[in-house]
Amino acid sequence: MHKQIQIAVIGVGNRARKYLSCLPEWVQVKYVVDPEPLRLQIASRICGVPQEACFEDPEVFFATKPKAQAAIIATPDRLHLPLSLLAANHGWHILLEKPVSISEGAYLQLIAATEQYGVHITPCLEMRFHKYFRRIRNLVKSGAVGDILSIDHTEHVGPDRMAHTFVRGLWSRRDQAGPIFLSKCCHDADFIVWLTGQTALWVNSTGRIDKFKPTPGTPERCLGCPISDCPYSAVKLYKERREWIDGFDVPDGGTLDEVIDEELRSGRWGRCVYHCDNDVYDTQDVSVELTGGIHLDMHLDGTSMKEGRTTIINGSQGTLVADKWQIRIVKDGETVLEEDYSGLEAIGLHGGADAAMLEDFFEAVATGGTPSLTLQSALEGHRICYLAG
Ligand SMILES: NC(=O)c1ccc[n+]([C@@H]2O[C@H](COP(=O)([O-])OP(=O)(O)OC[C@H]3O[C@@H](n4cnc5c(N)ncnc54)[C@H](O)[C@@H]3O)[C@@H](O)[C@H]2O)c1
Repeated sequence: MHKQIQIAVIGVGNRARKYLSCLPEWVQVKYVVDPEPLRLQIASRICGVPQEACFEDPEVFFATKPKAQAAIIATPDRLHLPLSLLAANHGWHILLEKPVSISEGAYLQLIAATEQYGVHITPCLEMRFHKYFRRIRNLVKSGAVGDILSIDHTEHVGPDRMAHTFVRGLWSRRDQAGPIFLSKCCHDADFIVWLTGQTALWVNSTGRIDKFKPTPGTPERCLGCPISDCPYSAVKLYKERREWIDGFDVPDGGTLDEVIDEELRSGRWGRCVYHCDNDVYDTQDVSVELTGGIHLDMHLDGTSMKEGRTTIINGSQGTLVADKWQIRIVKDGETVLEEDYSGLEAIGLHGGADAAMLEDFFEAVATGGTPSLTLQSALEGHRICYLAG
C-alpha cells in the first residue's frame, strides 16, 4: 500500500500537462505555479487545485513555505537551475525536464545541491523507460552483436516538429533556448552513454542552417501563401490537420478556431519558415570518441521529411539496425532477428515511457529509495551535448 504524496508542479505548459494526464493515482498535486494566468486556470481545473494554491510567481510561492515532498519542474530550460535550487532548498525531490541546464556549470551546481539537501533530481530522459530503446540496450548488453565497434545515430526531426518547435517556436534561438543539439539530442546522447556505459574522450561538431533561412519570393506568413505543396504550411498543420495545437490555450468564452486563426494572422506560429528569426542549426554532425574504443557519429537532421531515430550499432559479431520502431540484427549478410515496436506509438505519451518514468520517480520518493535515473547518471550524455554546442 503506497502512502499518498503531495507535489508542486512548476511550469504547467505542454509537457507538464502530459505528466498530469498519467500521474500515479496516489500522487496528489497540491500546488501549481505558472506566470500565465490562463495556464494556471487550466491546470488548477485539471488537478482540482484551489485558487489559493495557484501561484504566478515562484518566488512568492516559495516564500509561503509550501509543504510537499516533490516537484515537477517543466519551465523553459533557462529557469531549470534557479527553480530547482529553490525546490531542493525546501528538501523536495525533483522531476526536472530536460535539458537539465543550459551549461555544464549549472548542471554541476545542481548535483552539488542534491548532495547538500539530500534530494534526488531525475531528468526527464524518457527514452530510458521506452520499451523499444530498452530492447535495443538489452540486446546489445546480452552480446547479440558482440563487442560494440562503432555507432551511427541519426535523429530526424520531421517537418512538423522542426517548424513548430525549432524554426517558429520557443527553441528557435540559441540566446533564449540554447543550442538545438542540447535541447533535442540530449535524449540521444544519454541513450548512447546508457547503452555503452562509456564516456567521451573527445567531441567534434559541425552545424549549419541548410534550409530555414530567408528566401526571397515567399510571403512572410502562411495565410494566403500561394505555394500549395509546402510541407511547412502552418495553415495545413494547425487549421486543416489540427496537429501541434495542444499549446494553443482557449480562454473562457473563446473557441479553438478563433485561437488558431489569430495565431495564423499575427502569432509566431503563423510565420513562414523562411522568414523567422531562428538561429539554431537545422543540420549538425557530431563525432565522438568513446572510451572502450567505440567511435560514435551522431547526426541531427532537421531538413528531411523523415521523423524518428535511426541507430546502427556495428559489433564484432553482427550489426543491429534500429529504425523508428523496427529492430533488425544482421550477421554475415543474414537477418537473424527482426522485431517491430510500432504498436507502442498508439499508446501515446512517448509509447508509455512517460508514465513509467513518473512511476519510477514517485515510487522512489514514496519509499525513500533512489530513482533509477539520477542527475549523476545522466551527466555524461549532457556533457557530450555541451561540448558539441
Ligand atoms: N522530455 C521531453 O521529451 C520534452 C519534450 C518537450 C519539451 N521538454 C522540456 O519541457 C520543458 C517545458 O517545455 P514545454 O513544451 O512544456 O513548454 P511550454 O512553454 O508549453 O511550458 C512551459 C511553461 O512554463 C511556464 N513558465 C515560464 N516562466 C515560469 C516561471 N518563472 N515559473 C513557473 N513557470 C514558468 C510558461 O508560462 C509555460 O506555461 C522545457 O524544459 C522543454 O525543453 C521536454
